Amino acid sequence: MDWMEEALEKCLNKIERNITEIGEYFPQVAYEGRYNQEDKTFWTAGFWPGLLWLLYRESGNTAARDLAVKLEEDLDEILDGFVHLHHDVGFMWLPSAVMDYRLTGSEQARIRGLKAASHLAGRFNQAGRFIRAWTDEVNPHSKGWALIDCMMNLPLLFWASRETDDPRFYHIACAHTDTVLNHFIREDFTVPHIVSFDPYTGKKIGVISGQAMNEDSAWSRGQAWAIYGLAVAYRETGKKECLDAAKNMANYFLSHLPSDQVPYWDFRSKPELQWVKDSSAAACTASGLMELSSVLEDETEKKFYQDQGKAILKGLYDHYWDTSEHSQAMLLGGTVNCLKKRHINVPIIYGDFFFTEGLLKAKGKKGIF
Ligand code: GLY
Repeated sequence: MDWMEEALEKCLNKIERNITEIGEYFPQVAYEGRYNQEDKTFWTAGFWPGLLWLLYRESGNTAARDLAVKLEEDLDEILDGFVHLHHDVGFMWLPSAVMDYRLTGSEQARIRGLKAASHLAGRFNQAGRFIRAWTDEVNPHSKGWALIDCMMNLPLLFWASRETDDPRFYHIACAHTDTVLNHFIREDFTVPHIVSFDPYTGKKIGVISGQAMNEDSAWSRGQAWAIYGLAVAYRETGKKECLDAAKNMANYFLSHLPSDQVPYWDFRSKPELQWVKDSSAAACTASGLMELSSVLEDETEKKFYQDQGKAILKGLYDHYWDTSEHSQAMLLGGTVNCLKKRHINVPIIYGDFFFTEGLLKAKGKKGIF
């Protein structure tokens, strides 16, 4: 068995074991091999259901399907409650409800996906042509804030547009993508985490460091969200600017990787913080590179990005796989927020998700986003 088959088998076995180990919880990070129970309003709530749906798709495991459906139903309180919703509804309902609908045809799941997409579309600020990230409850000064992470929420809009044969969702996704191309991407193909606009006039005010080292640095997970999201934007729109940006950002990411294939939490981290890595940024980028490879036509380029994606997956498997016998987690070395000292060099559920998704794509399977 080659390393990729072996890694995938271990991922699927871990998901299967976690059906009873994690159960009806919404995990985010693991300590000593056990995942925590996160608040279900948090943006990471879709990843455990997403892992369960990947297992169901591979093996037909009905316990995985039934648990994923229960988790999706648990999230109705948040979806229908409205007040806790934010732009990350794509991260939450694509791997849960939309994946359920794709695999089982559930009408209720389809409606949940469309409700989430309608919420995301409703966050669009016409003056600045961006999707507002957060609510006043999170930060009352964030009315004009757009985050690079939102590139990964846009696939929900592309899905909704196709599903309803209604281009409204598509137009909003395209407008937000244009804003990212025009106002986020720097000349060296890095991005800031947050760009602030005047919510009334739409004029760009400036950059906010967010989870990055500073306003001019390059938070590695932000780069990952952009690479994957832009590859999807190209897949959905065929716009060459998205493809060029995805390739250029991928090239920056790849040419700044340490030898173990996992970036520092910020590519421009100060040296004393370079012990902090982020395996989740590597995993997301690997899956994004597989996506990028799949939309390219030139065989040499296609192979290049696929090989680079596989090299990152191998680096993760060789150096970051959690080998402790009873651990619920797959990958060590993920970092949620370095400067705020929140969960540094630990397993994170979205690292595990994108690692599994990336391995499946390397075998020719489709991703969720
Ligand atoms: N979407 C927030 C993060 O990547 O930490």
